[in-house]
Amino acid sequence: MIITSCGNSQYLAKKLAKKLHVQYSPLLVAAFPDGEAYLKFDTNLKGKKLVIVQSFQPHPDMSLFDIIFAAEAAKDLGARKVILVAPYLGYMRQDKRFNPGECVSSKVMAKLLNNCVDKLITIDPHIHRYKSLRDIFTIPTVKLTANFVLAEYIKKHYRNEIIIGPDWESHQWAEDIARKIHVSATVLKKTRLSSREVQVKMTLPLEMKNKDVVIVDDIISTGHTIAEAAKQAHKLGAKNITAIAVHGLLVENALKTMKKAGVRKVLTTNCIDNLTSKIDVTPILLDALRKEK
Ligand code: R5P
Repeated sequence: MIITSCGNSQYLAKKLAKKLHVQYSPLLVAAFPDGEAYLKFDTNLKGKKLVIVQSFQPHPDMSLFDIIFAAEAAKDLGARKVILVAPYLGYMRQDKRFNPGECVSSKVMAKLLNNCVDKLITIDPHIHRYKSLRDIFTIPTVKLTANFVLAEYIKKHYRNEIIIGPDWESHQWAEDIARKIHVSATVLKKTRLSSREVQVKMTLPLEMKNKDVVIVDDIISTGHTIAEAAKQAHKLGAKNITAIAVHGLLVENALKTMKKAGVRKVLTTNCIDNLTSKIDVTPILLDALRKEK
């Protein structure tokens, strides 16, 4: 097995290779003067199993494009199997045509990957309206969850905590984590007005005074979902509010938006590398990759 990355998840890719005692081989991803992509492998791939570790952030379009070119090139160079480890799988949120004429991007992304990779391993993909990854992928897929490492982190760092899920779909994280660490959880009701505007309502309020309130979600993008949930918690007397998510996209002024709403701390996993990615998902990926060795 050889592990590589197209750039976004290099740290994770190197760490996985080291722990699995397999070769990490850098992949050169550059551009010609006219902007066209140039990719070059640095090792002999003939008969090898290649694992490409690449999250779709930052630069989701280029990430997808680089994965396709890397996978096709690897096959052309004789690789026996190409496995994509996408700790954050992008394009999953447009899972239906919300408005007439829209492209259902998740289907297109899956179609492109079905054509060039042999297997997909990912962590907490945004599956809301689909039942499973099988709804759009024809290749074998492995859906992992970071709930275990998130629960461990919360258990270790918080006392007297309660968990909030900012919308119905977040019960997959909020309720499961609360169950794992034996604390209470409540899930709010969210109405999305636009990609930058949401309204949330607390339908089952919990006692928040003197509690460590931890808002848990799969994705923090603009931070508005977390900010609105934090405002609701504030109204119920919450003082110490932390936001924890699997995937920290943190676009636009996400950190400022959440801080303004009273969120004291933001923590995410290293599915996407950024200033808040303090929770390590390596153990979860290692388990999945050991089965591939
Ligand atoms: C949506 O259903 C997701 O679970 C997140 O709640 C959402 O993507 C967060 O987006 P934002 O941070 O822009 O509110």
